[in-house]
Amino acid sequence: MLVLGIESSCDETAVAIVRDGRYLISNVVYSQIKIHSEFGGVVPEIASRSHVDSIVPVIDECLKEAKLQMEHIDAIAVTAGPGLAGSLLVGVTAAKAIAYYYKKPLYAIHHIASHIAANFLTDENFDVPFLSLVVSGGHTHLITCDKDRKFKIIGKTQDDAAGEALDKIARALGLPYPGGPIIEHLARNANKDALKYPRIKLNSDFDFSFSGLKTCALNYINRIKMEAEKRKLKFEDIISIEDFVASYQNAIFQQLLEKTALAIDKLKIQKVALAGGVAANQTLQNLFKVMCDNKKLDFFAPDKKFCTDNAAMVATMAYYDILAGKKEASLHLDAKSIWDAESYLSSEPISAK
Ligand code: KG4
Ligand code: ZN
Repeated sequence: MLVLGIESSCDETAVAIVRDGRYLISNVVYSQIKIHSEFGGVVPEIASRSHVDSIVPVIDECLKEAKLQMEHIDAIAVTAGPGLAGSLLVGVTAAKAIAYYYKKPLYAIHHIASHIAANFLTDENFDVPFLSLVVSGGHTHLITCDKDRKFKIIGKTQDDAAGEALDKIARALGLPYPGGPIIEHLARNANKDALKYPRIKLNSDFDFSFSGLKTCALNYINRIKMEAEKRKLKFEDIISIEDFVASYQNAIFQQLLEKTALAIDKLKIQKVALAGGVAANQTLQNLFKVMCDNKKLDFFAPDKKFCTDNAAMVATMAYYDILAGKKEASLHLDAKSIWDAESYLSSEPISAK
């Protein structure tokens, strides 16, 4: 089955064709990062306009790369939410127009579910059951998928997402958007213990919270700036940017690791899969690999290109949803900027083979 996926939930216009959920035929991603970086973050109005400009060329390029025509495609899948309303609408409208004109079945896909499904694209041994940590700019969720392919959210962030926490401190330090990859690069050979961060205690075992760490980092920045001013020095004379971001990144990653380890032990997990933009971080992947090796568990993470927003993961998720009996979306499909993951995930079981 050939599924054409469309993703436009934030600042990437992406279209991909995937065969049978596992085999990538073509994958085109137009990133708007350059447009938004001068504003220090995604500007929703500019994002929707840019999607309008690029959606048709990206669809054309994807078909050309695949050496296919729309007639060859069996189903159209589109990210219907959650995300930026105006951005989502561009992808949803394009998908509806294709489905109508070419008489193709249309499927509405949940963004978090598709991030997890990226693991099916990357490793042919990946299958249910598993525990997934979804870490992106908008989400930090711990989700189990049982042998009957049912998802359950067991924990999530009570405030900022991990990627958002990285992006905000990068911005406060004057680093360009998005902060996550730049912090990874700067932190690579730096001292992660240069600054101390508190261990965040929460009532709920598997929930996360990053706003305390973010406030602590902002306080460090202010104190270092004040001291530098008093002593007529530069920020970097007191602490290098590399050590600063390495310590902050480590504080975030230790919380991700600690909560996931707790879930593994309490729920007797055998397989762990990272997902989402922050999962592209090699330091995070290494920390999880070591933890899983120590616990003798299988560890999976998507290829870097399938961690950040892309449409291959949308097509893959749709394939498994279709196998599990998912109903077609109607041509009245609307974008859902807020879409409860639990209701999608529990009503739309994932299916692997
Ligand atoms: O999944 P994604 O592309 O979009 C959302 O669904 O949010 O994730 C984007 C997030 C941003 O916060 C970005 O800083 C972060 O993923 N990110 C990274 C890396 N690459 C992207 N964070 C840490 N290390 C990276 N290499
Ligand atoms: Zn995403």
